[in-house]
Amino acid sequence: MPELTEILSRKDIETNISGIALRISEDYKQGNLILVAALKGAFMFVADLARSLSIPSQIGFVGVSSYGAGTESSGTITVTKKLDVDIEGKDVLIVEDIVDTGLSLRFIIDYLAEFKPRTLKTCSLIDKRERREVDVVVDYACHEVSEGFLVGYGLDHNENYRHLPAIYHLKL
Ligand code: IMP
Ligand code: MG
Repeated sequence: MPELTEILSRKDIETNISGIALRISEDYKQGNLILVAALKGAFMFVADLARSLSIPSQIGFVGVSSYGAGTESSGTITVTKKLDVDIEGKDVLIVEDIVDTGLSLRFIIDYLAEFKPRTLKTCSLIDKRERREVDVVVDYACHEVSEGFLVGYGLDHNENYRHLPAIYHLKL
């Protein structure tokens, strides 16, 4: 039986989102912010983040996929849904669920850069630093964890557990 251990409660998540939302609202108060969320994992996070900001934002989505079934990145990343907003000349903040090896984020940065945004920064619900393989900077990280496979609050394992309001460590 898979075992779930809560590591971040709904309240923890809310508190940390409020923290980065303050910073983002301050940093982008002059600009025209577009949040580009990576599907599917960031859907819940971007909804809460956008509502926590004290500045207006537009919201777009991009779909990338790196995981097959399982807990290890396949290393091959593909666009599963093209960017759906015009970001040329705009201030773009990529919203990710979790940055692990960094390969997905690197891929998204390179993909979005082709659309010529004015600025391009990164935000992630979870920054899992220990397994980083490529040099990417997470400008705004909500939580940092060292290891383990996490589910809930958008994060999945084989498409399960995304609906959970808190974040759990999954032991298979
Ligand atoms: P990376 O390319 O190795 O950085 O992996 C990033 C993507 O893999 C994330 O956007 C997630 O979709 C998925 N991922 C990485 N670690 C986890 C995890 O602990 N739980 C669920 N999904 C994960
Ligand atoms: Mg995923």
